[in-house]
Amino acid sequence: ESTLGAAAAQSGRYFGTAIASGRLGDSTYTSIANREFNMVTAENEMKIDATEPQRGQFNFSAADRVYNWAVQNGKQVRGHTLAWHSQQPGWMQSLSGSALRQAMIDHINGVMAHYKGKIAQWDVVNEAFADGSSGARRDSNLQRTGNDWIEVAFRTARAADPNAKLCYNDYNVENWNWAKTQAMYAMVKDFKQRGVPIDCVGFQSHFNSGSPYDSNFRTTLQNFAALGVDVAITELDIQGAPASTYANVTKDCLAVERCLGITVWGVRDSDSWRSEQTPLLFNNDGSKKPAYTAVLDAL
Ligand code: XIL
Repeated sequence: ESTLGAAAAQSGRYFGTAIASGRLGDSTYTSIANREFNMVTAENEMKIDATEPQRGQFNFSAADRVYNWAVQNGKQVRGHTLAWHSQQPGWMQSLSGSALRQAMIDHINGVMAHYKGKIAQWDVVNEAFADGSSGARRDSNLQRTGNDWIEVAFRTARAADPNAKLCYNDYNVENWNWAKTQAMYAMVKDFKQRGVPIDCVGFQSHFNSGSPYDSNFRTTLQNFAALGVDVAITELDIQGAPASTYANVTKDCLAVERCLGITVWGVRDSDSWRSEQTPLLFNNDGSKKPAYTAVLDAL
């Protein structure tokens, strides 16, 4: 096959990218994105501050620009993200307790209703665990509403759109030996045992010198899949874009039957949130990097 999306489809998987609405007027960007990818994540446009800038007043204009571009070009969409400590609108940042809990529920219901039946996977909760060795939940206004906020978010989401796969998404959870990975594993295991509706786990996979790729990523993916959830690589970028590491990540997904697909976090290096790390598959001029060929060959 000659594109990432078509190559991934040979094994029933997808190959996706983050799309930024502000770049949809750039024809170099859109032609690469349209040619190579068959899954789209809105880089910022479906986040809480974008979709509910004032409490109870939803705004889907930027989100729909990304969604419509994707669907008009035959792509599926991952929804990102419904409950998160970051990129909250000011009104939500200042809420706490039962008012915040209700606002989270109302937000999930409002956004999921707009896209009901249209989203392949939703990142229901993003980044709820702390970094480091504690294995604890991240301190946040949502966490302070009570430890059950995550399961409440998932139960709300299941009722709002029973057709979407519901995912928990996080970073620094790719290495099986990290405390954060183990904490996330314990949560997913508990959710499956108690019937909390969770369908998938997203591994952001922002690899760099501080949190490098380790070959035990495949073990991590296999162990989560064995709990009865799908897994996905949701925001892949790798500092310096070494071809061998990109190939290894691709092979790790392919080795795990329940790995749904891979999404890279942008198109060209200049589109990346970490452009100084040149972590993506395309050069600024739109040409393919060695990592691109390595991924295509591995698919
Ligand atoms: C990043 C975007 O790429 C940036 O444009 C924005 O300024 C901050 O958020 N984890 C996530 C993504 O789940 O939503 C983040 O995206 C990167 C880290």
